Amino acid sequence: MQIIAFNEPFNKFKQWLDEANTDNRIVEPTAMNLASVDNKNCPSNRMVLLKKFDERGFCFFTNLNSRKAQEISANPNVSLCFYWGVLSRQIRIEGVAKRVSDTEADEYFKSRARQSQIGAWASKQSTEMKQWSEFEERISYYEEIFRDKEVKRPEFWSGFRVVPKVIEFWSEGKFRIHHRQCYELVGQGWQTKTLYP
Ligand SMILES: Cc1cc2nc3c(=O)[nH]c(=O)nc-3n(C[C@H](O)[C@H](O)[C@H](O)COP(=O)(O)O)c2cc1C
Repeated sequence: MQIIAFNEPFNKFKQWLDEANTDNRIVEPTAMNLASVDNKNCPSNRMVLLKKFDERGFCFFTNLNSRKAQEISANPNVSLCFYWGVLSRQIRIEGVAKRVSDTEADEYFKSRARQSQIGAWASKQSTEMKQWSEFEERISYYEEIFRDKEVKRPEFWSGFRVVPKVIEFWSEGKFRIHHRQCYELVGQGWQTKTLYP
């Protein structure tokens, strides 16, 4: 076990993500599985897209009324998992989810396609839809509201930054002799160890 510099696992993450991003066999290189827990400690998971990362953490954006966001506000402990099959690599991250600033949420919302911005207003994410036409009507309604105007970010739509405590890099070896390098936060640095596969 050794203590290493704070930026090391982030640099390694960047290197693996860059390799995934430049491999045209991978359809959604930034897709990651997000697990949260409800107030009865029952887990649930779903895919989200990594939209931004640096040494502060890993960001995704979503509807704040969604199941995931509600669970996170009651219990911010989450985990993320990336899997790039064609590269035979997995990265697991465990940590605490914190809301991004309004400025960061505005910045990302502005970069989205107009139809996706309208979709953010129209979708009551994670709640029951009685019929599809109800959703279509909501989309038309917001298209009308924002006709010839910039679509503002809804207050119920923002992002979370997963501040990591543990980051584990897994790469496949022959005959299941895989490599696992685990980094655990200790103070200002990381403790790193190799785990049995
Ligand atoms: C590849 C992929 C990427 C997705 N990215 C996002 C995302 O960035 N944000 C989001 O809110 N939902 C995203 N979704 C939809 C979620 O998986 C999920 O269906 C939705 O957020 C509702 O989840 P919840 O009810 O658990 O909150 C994505 C789905 C897939 C398959």
